[in-house]
Amino acid sequence: MITPAAVQNVLEMKHVSKTFGSYTALDDFSLVLGKGEVHCLAGENGSGKSTAIKVLAGILPRDAGSIRLLAHELGDHEVQRAIDLGLAVIYQDLSLLPNLSVAENIGMPSALRRGEHIARYAHWRRKAADTFAMMGVSVGLDVLVETLPVAEKQLVAIARAVAAEALVIVMDEPTTALTRSEVTRLFDLVRTLKTTGVSFLFVSHKFEEIFGICDSITVLRDGKIVATGPTSELDRRSLALAMTGRPIVEERLALPVEGHGEERLRVEGLSRSPDFYDVSLSIRAGEIVSIVGLLGSGQRELALCLFGLLRQDAGACLLDAIVYAPASAADALRMGVVLVPEDRLSEGLFLDRSIADNAGAASLGAFTAAFAWLKTGPLRRTISQFVTQLRIKMTGPDQSVGRLSGGNQQRVMLARFLMRASGDDPQRP
Ligand SMILES: Nc1ncnc2c1ncn2[C@@H]1O[C@H](COP(=O)(O)OP(=O)(O)OP(=O)(O)O)[C@@H](O)[C@H]1O
Ligand SMILES: [Mg+2]
Repeated sequence: MITPAAVQNVLEMKHVSKTFGSYTALDDFSLVLGKGEVHCLAGENGSGKSTAIKVLAGILPRDAGSIRLLAHELGDHEVQRAIDLGLAVIYQDLSLLPNLSVAENIGMPSALRRGEHIARYAHWRRKAADTFAMMGVSVGLDVLVETLPVAEKQLVAIARAVAAEALVIVMDEPTTALTRSEVTRLFDLVRTLKTTGVSFLFVSHKFEEIFGICDSITVLRDGKIVATGPTSELDRRSLALAMTGRPIVEERLALPVEGHGEERLRVEGLSRSPDFYDVSLSIRAGEIVSIVGLLGSGQRELALCLFGLLRQDAGACLLDAIVYAPASAADALRMGVVLVPEDRLSEGLFLDRSIADNAGAASLGAFTAAFAWLKTGPLRRTISQFVTQLRIKMTGPDQSVGRLSGGNQQRVMLARFLMRASGDDPQRP
């Protein structure tokens, strides 16, 4: 076992390339990570960030290049060896074990690594509790991971990496669902671990995070490195230019305060114990209303209620001045209300189906003629209009969604519901 003190560069990736068929996802990628360094990997959706991480972790074989982790050369598919050397990866899809408890998810990987054959549940629980305490968050230890909202799944995935006492921690967008206070606490923890010599490779799109905790940065565009160096040498403008290839004109969007249309949705005194109490709000046509709050303060349950997936205990809603009390999601959809689910992988996408099938899935009713005959021509045209507008990076609408990058999968999800919401659905009353 190599001691962290013995190496200065914990990770060296040199001239790494990865293709998928004729598509080059990563082209001559090199990266050096020093001990105690936080390095950001940035780039637009589909630029190759997750591919670089999967190649590092040994999940994807590379076409060329070398990887040296803590002074050991890594070959392809050496997933376990990389973990044994001290690598922990928080994948973008989190890769947790859904049908096991939080404590099992956190305690078991380290136990397996040590070759333990007996489940020491009490020990795992303690380890999980200690790790969450160190992170300054609280998550139920005995609940099944599949029942958790995405934000808590992210906290479990982070806790698992921290509990593994890894020397190199890779985080592929770990904060997408977290609120500001959890992110702040996570970054405090990153700063603490950094002083003990732990290094981080951190995928992020958020300027605040990049400039807040990253010492250095590598920017990818279309699988190629377009900029790399200390974060201090970049500002927001030059980073945006490197990421997108286009100069960014910063302008404030002037949102009209007045001038919205008729009231569409009115919520009056909605309560659901113990999630939220006495919520009243009104949304007019053309208006965007944001519901904010700490994790678990009830905003998720409120949304599920408005979409007919949970029942309120008290209060009422009006949609276009008519009583709106959806008994199911199908009911809500019929009345023109859509909910973009927070977890695209478990609640939304059909990963082995095409982009077109996924985008069109909620709009089939609007494109069905007599005898359940699907009007495929108009459907395809509308789908292609939405995927173009959302700039989904793909080979074509027949590409399977499972092969898209995480951000582009999210866009497909959005396309499905924007299309549904804008569609002329004949089933609507
Ligand atoms: N298994 C696969 N088969 C074919 N193409 C793939 C596969 N995995 C990734 N790709 C393609 O490689 C490109 C890079 O994907 P990658 O997941 O690395 O992007 P990313 O930078 O992580 O993007 P995001 O910010 O959206 O997560 C994408 O265009 C994607 O479609
Ligand atoms: Mg990704």
